[in-house]
Amino acid sequence: MIDFHSHILPAVDDGSADIDESLALLELLSGQGVDTVVATPHFYANHTSVEAFLTRRQDAYNQLKAAMPNSSPEILLGAEVRYYEGISRMRELRSLCIGDTRLLLLEMPMGHWTEYMVRELIDLACSTRIRLVLAHVERYYAAQDRSVWDRLRDSDVLLQVNASFFLGFGTRRRAVRMLDAGEIHLIGSDCHNLTDRKPQLDKAAAYIEKRLGAAFWEQMNEHTARLLLP
Ligand SMILES: [Fe+2]
Repeated sequence: MIDFHSHILPAVDDGSADIDESLALLELLSGQGVDTVVATPHFYANHTSVEAFLTRRQDAYNQLKAAMPNSSPEILLGAEVRYYEGISRMRELRSLCIGDTRLLLLEMPMGHWTEYMVRELIDLACSTRIRLVLAHVERYYAAQDRSVWDRLRDSDVLLQVNASFFLGFGTRRRAVRMLDAGEIHLIGSDCHNLTDRKPQLDKAAAYIEKRLGAAFWEQMNEHTARLLLP
């Protein structure tokens, strides 16, 4: 199983505080059946340069890698890039993509998006240098017109949701319906720590398997694995 969205690298953002917490998170993920984790620390263009971010991320990864047992899941380096108006003009976007792919995980603001923002997303999606993945869309799904989501999907934008979407009593039915309809594409734990934001992919997987069948879940994982190929 692949965890597409996580904050497991030590002390780079509001996720794992240190190496010990990162190792414990990896162990939890491994126990849940995760063999590949995409590490997506927050990137805010108004706080740091891409170069400084990449150095910091690499240092954190190197430290963790040195302490990781061989049985740990494989880590792919990415980022959760915060949207800002004008981001489509940012030259270094490609270097924030996941591993050797063109996939860029983008975090959008809460609330209603302006037409400018939607057009900028579509412009980005139409550029050949990257493929957009919107992070935890369940957070902003209801705030946009349905047509916005149709336009984004028509532009090949991928939509990621968090495991918690499949666990909430008030959301899990909708989550399964959207997944079954092909309206959402990727799942991540978005785990930050061992307390209030720990990984729960196993529970989400179990619920999806129960509602849509093991073959569906397997196909979804295969689709994710294909997307992560260089
Ligand atoms: Fe996140």
